Parts: sequence; C-alpha cells; structure tokens
Amino acid sequence: MEKISTRIYSVGVNDHDKDLFEGLWPIPFGVSYNSYLILDEKVALIDTVEYGFEEEYLANIEKVLDGRKIDYLVVNHMEPDHSSLVAYMLRKHPELMVVANAKTVPMLKGYYETPEEKIKVVAEGESISLGSCNLNFYMIPMVHWPETMVTWVPEEGTLFSGDAFGTFGAVNGGIVDSEGTFEEYRDEMIRYYSNIVGKYGAPVQQALKKLGGLDIKRVCSTHGPVWENNVGQVVALYDRLSRYDVDRGVCIVYGSMYGNTAAAADALAMELEARGIQYAIHDLAGNNAGVLGVSGAIRDAFKYDTIVVGSPTYNNGIFPPVETFMKALKARQVKGRRFYAFGSYSWAGASVRQLNALAAEMGFEVLGDGMSFPHAYTSEKCDIAAVADLL
Ligand code: FEO
Repeated sequence: MEKISTRIYSVGVNDHDKDLFEGLWPIPFGVSYNSYLILDEKVALIDTVEYGFEEEYLANIEKVLDGRKIDYLVVNHMEPDHSSLVAYMLRKHPELMVVANAKTVPMLKGYYETPEEKIKVVAEGESISLGSCNLNFYMIPMVHWPETMVTWVPEEGTLFSGDAFGTFGAVNGGIVDSEGTFEEYRDEMIRYYSNIVGKYGAPVQQALKKLGGLDIKRVCSTHGPVWENNVGQVVALYDRLSRYDVDRGVCIVYGSMYGNTAAAADALAMELEARGIQYAIHDLAGNNAGVLGVSGAIRDAFKYDTIVVGSPTYNNGIFPPVETFMKALKARQVKGRRFYAFGSYSWAGASVRQLNALAAEMGFEVLGDGMSFPHAYTSEKCDIAAVADLL
C-alpha cells in the first residue's frame, strides 16, 4: 500500500512467483498488478488484481479504508490479471457497484457471474462524481481488449490507463517513479508492449489521439510504476512503438541444429561490432534461447530497423523456432523493416527462400537473395563483409 496523493492510494501487488505471463511470456523480473483506491466523499476502487493475492490485496485495501465502505469498483479492463478478484471484492464489500461499459458486461457475467443489478453501465464521456473529484470514462478498444476503457480524474490530473503505458517488472521500492525510472524499465516496457499489445498499433494511435487533449500529470497503469516524472517519455515511447518507428540497428535472430547457421550469425555479429553498428543477437534454439527466448527477439524486432534471420533448412522449410518468430512478427503487423535471411542446408536449400517470401508478404524491404550455404560454415563460402555492406 502506498499513498500517491491526498485522495489516491496504490493497493496492488507484486508477483515474483509466476514464470510466464499469459502462460507465454517470461517475466524474470516479476510483474505488478496495480489497483488504486480513491478516497473522497465516495470511495472508488480502480481494477483488481490476479487470483492468488486475495489476502494481501484485501489487507492493502482495508488499511486505507479504515472502516469505510467502497462505493464503486471500476473495471477498466477485463483480462483476468486485473479482473480476477471482482467476485471476491463483491463478497467482501457487497455494497459496492461494479462500474463497467456495455462491452464489459457479458464478460463480467461470463467470467464471474456478476449479477446484472450490481453493474452500473457507463458510456464514452460519461462521468461519476465522487464528491470533490470525478471519474470520466473514455473507451480505448483493443488496448488491449475490445472492452477496454480508461478512467480520467481531471482534479488529480490522473489517468488510470489500464495496460496502456504498462511494463513488465515488479515494482521495487516506491511505486511512484523518479527521474531515472524510465531508463530502468525501458527495455521491459518495450518487451511488454511488443509481446502483449504489439498487434494493436493502430488502436494505440487512436487512443493516444483521443487522450492527447488531456492535461495528464500522472499515469496510473495496471503494470509497473506510477508515472509522474516521466510522463512525456512514456507517452512518446508508446507513440513510437505503435507507429512501428525504430532506431537504426540490426536484430539478428537465428536457430541452428549443428552450429553452422550459428557460426554465420556469430561472424555477422562480429563484423557489425567491428563496424560500430548497433545490433542484438538472439539464438532461438532450445536452452540457448536463454530466459527471454522469442520474447526478447520480438522486443528487439520492435527496436531496430533491420531484421536478419538465420535458419537451416528443416523438412524442406524453416527451422520451427525461427518460423515461430516470423509468425510472431506477422501477427503483430510489424512493418517498415529491412530484412536479410541466411542459413545452411544439407542437400537442398529452402529456408532462405521461404524466409524472404514471408518477409516480402509482410512488406519488408528484402535485401538481396540472402545467403543460403551448403553444409559447414566457412568464411570462403560466406562473404560476411558483403552481407554487412547490405545492412
Ligand atoms: Fe494486464 Fe491485458 O491485461
């Protein structure tokens, strides 16, 4: 529990135990599920947290309430990392009304059997007075689900933004940011955005446009720090990412069966290093993929303008972990990238051709035919300097 302003308290929790967020994405630094209480003449709770944290969450809330009742539970977003404890809170505080928009209602009933008479439906632009401050609701569909909305409290200059402007990484120390916090979380914020919200660049742009007129002093997202000192940087980063805007640099992603495609990837990385070109390198095969695996590769594909993908030919196609990466880029509608493919084969090369075809389908600028080489990697067969010249 932490006091954020005279009216706003953070009552969320840190999750240090979960390995995979959404059952897919590694979270070696944990994640926070943020929830907020606003104490005024009336009391509003903004979102809840995930199953498993009932005791800690309720203790945080009761400490702030000090015997008061909750009037409203605002559900900005129904993904269960935030809505899991709606039914639990209704049991503990049966007097509260759940505040939600029309698209949220069937989800509330379907997930938690929330009784209709306990739901107060709000629409775009509608507001609820808490006394000295007001809750204003704006729909931001597909950031990250179709029902998603944000809650704006003008008297506090505070946007309760749901997943928007969120990040992986538990919150250590105070939840309110300091000046250095943005850089500390930058990489995890890009990984969070690219992995979770990355498919929805256009809706994020629409949401930014809709919220652009608000004088936002504080962003209370559902994951990560409360942004007060870095609001400009955080909004600018989401704006860039949702426009698929990138830095000059090379994201090398590869899988290798017997080390030959890996040797070409390493040689290219050394060449880029020698030339002073910014790059990242990700081996997707098995344990070599490290903790982050494809999640880290997707992050860096959102960072750099050039994507270089290596795959041996496998079953006359692309090595499966590499194919998964390519599908992830396609699903996220990544655009505006330069692309180069390479990989070894034993009797018939197919992976490089197929990678180039996939990249062309995605509208990437394919830089030449790629480097498909037979059998072992050797510097004679593979002109790495010529490849680097292209990138
Ligand atoms: Fe953090 Fe889309 O839920």
